[in-house]
Amino acid sequence: MRDQAEKLRKKLSNGALHSAKTIAVVSGKGGVGKSNFTINTALSLAKKGKKVLVFDFDIGMGNINVLIGADSKHTISNFIEKNIPFNEIIYTGPYQISYISAGNGFSKVLELDKISIQRLLIELEELQYLYDYILFDMGAGATNANLQIMLSVDDIFVITTPEPTSITDAYSMMKYIVLQESNNHLYLICNRSEREKEGIATLERLQLAMKKFLNKNVQILGVLPEDSHVRKAVIGQTPFYTEFPRSLITTKLEKIVQTYLGDEHVSRQSSHTNSFIRRLRSLFER
Ligand SMILES: Nc1ncnc2c1ncn2[C@@H]1O[C@H](COP(=O)(O)OP(=O)(O)OP(=O)(O)O)[C@@H](O)[C@H]1O
Ligand SMILES: [Mg+2]
Repeated sequence: MRDQAEKLRKKLSNGALHSAKTIAVVSGKGGVGKSNFTINTALSLAKKGKKVLVFDFDIGMGNINVLIGADSKHTISNFIEKNIPFNEIIYTGPYQISYISAGNGFSKVLELDKISIQRLLIELEELQYLYDYILFDMGAGATNANLQIMLSVDDIFVITTPEPTSITDAYSMMKYIVLQESNNHLYLICNRSEREKEGIATLERLQLAMKKFLNKNVQILGVLPEDSHVRKAVIGQTPFYTEFPRSLITTKLEKIVQTYLGDEHVSRQSSHTNSFIRRLRSLFER
């Protein structure tokens, strides 16, 4: 396993391989639409020909499999508790996206032990060479593993709604990230906005506060409307992106993904590094 990783690393430095861009979808307050955003964004990327893996990292309370109406027998908890290898917990969803379920129905939050972390790092490193994008859907809980993934990814999508409680929690979350001196790029999305203007104003206020108080530039990706198609899609256990391709929410999501892909930083960043794994390893070994 280790030799394999070493070989891959060599290929990577020769430019013979590329490494996935890693993205964590986070919020301060829970229930703002992270999981729906993650799965539908993954589908949009896949439709553009990208190889995408969705990693449901809401361990013990995951719902990505529910949102796509799939039943996954093996989850990340099987990996942690029963030593099942990663290739048996990766499933294929619509548009050939891959996903790893977080499992649900646990009474306690699973914390990763040292051995599981080592195994996770080795598996994640290999996955990086197989995909263009790895999206982590982060739960509302702040376990150590959650925070470490969040601080290691290349990009963070912060979801808020126009509600003041959601905005202040999004700010606190970003403040935490910035104070950890982590170098990720922060992108803002306002979900469930009744009016586009209100959403933009929310994001601009957050952007300004980040600059003024933390001297951190964050980028606005866009606003998603309050749209009854989301609830309908959730109830029908199909993503809105595939079920309602002409809905306002799908159109706006498409725009957000285009904006992200067109961002200078995204296209400029070299994909011939695996800094994600390096960062993650150093955080876990701290
Ligand atoms: N744009 C929207 N328009 C209407 N309803 C929405 C929208 N986005 C989310 N919702 C509603 O909010 C619910 C919660 O969404 P979701 O599960 O994606 O949130 P979450 O942030 O992942 O929650 P958690 O923090 O618990 O993981 C959805 O089931 C849906 O009913
Ligand atoms: Mg969720």
